Amino acid sequence: MATEIKRVAVIGSGTMGNGIAHVCAQSGLEVALVDLEAPFLEKALATIGKNMDRQVKKGALSEEEKSKALGRIRTATDRSDGVGDADLVVEAIPERAELKYELFQDLDRLTPEGAILASNTSSISITEIAARTSRPEKVIGMHFMNPVPVMQLVEVIRGLATDDATTASVMELSRALGKTPVEVNDFPGFVSNRVLMPMINEAVFALMEGVAEPEAIDTVMKLGMNHPMGPLALADLIGLDTCLNILEVLHRELGDDRYRPCPLLRKYVAAGWLGRKSGRGFHDYRG
Ligand code: NAI
Repeated sequence: MATEIKRVAVIGSGTMGNGIAHVCAQSGLEVALVDLEAPFLEKALATIGKNMDRQVKKGALSEEEKSKALGRIRTATDRSDGVGDADLVVEAIPERAELKYELFQDLDRLTPEGAILASNTSSISITEIAARTSRPEKVIGMHFMNPVPVMQLVEVIRGLATDDATTASVMELSRALGKTPVEVNDFPGFVSNRVLMPMINEAVFALMEGVAEPEAIDTVMKLGMNHPMGPLALADLIGLDTCLNILEVLHRELGDDRYRPCPLLRKYVAAGWLGRKSGRGFHDYRG
């Protein structure tokens, strides 16, 4: 039977987590937002408030709806405080398998028996995450796009053991959030990053080989292919560390050199030039 979802816990309040909490609260769900330290949560709440202000200015949200939505979000630095009554947990912590495995093992212990455990992972196997729990049929991928309040798609990823009821609940919830869910199977990078990351990587190779400047590469893809944003600007938005992590997974798991991360991407990540979040990536966001 499909689970009715009223209470959601979001683990990780960074780029993606605050957006997921935002859309859930705006749709009337009770949200517990969990992160490691209070300042991260304060920053996330401030971001959500700012993004809702933007919606108010556009007339997409009233002041009253905004304050009600914000009132539905509580925060916790201890995961056991946040997840005990959750119908659904959405994990949005960094893209590192060992972190996710540890978290899901713990969530399996801390959440009600019937709760669905979802991961926003970009590339890590849902099947492998699920195998760490005693409820693999209730583990699923719920891959939101960045920025979450704006982007339509939720890629819903079925692990090998994910059951129909769990999939149906997550598809239905995604629609209730105003999104369009698309069901895909668990394979490295799913559909979105399997197709997107090689394009970004190729754009970085083109830059490294001196084919063109970053602005030129992005303009070709924007005006020539009708992409709303060029691949290098998109990589900066996603975070270059996240892009590198995803390419490493594709390269390792699919075992094909066409997914090898460009050395220039590694160099930027090593330098801490991670894109928008650090002020500098392929483009400069300082000032
Ligand atoms: P981020 O680095 O912006 O945020 C991660 C947050 O998780 C941080 O606030 C960190 O303090 C917190 N955190 C770390 N360990 C934790 C733990 N054990 N418990 C609670 N909180 C913890 O990362 P971002 O970009 O939001 O990515 C999160 C996930 O979403 C990753 O799996 C990523 O691949 C995926 N994703 C990212 C997209 C993007 O464009 N950035 C797009 C779609 C998916």
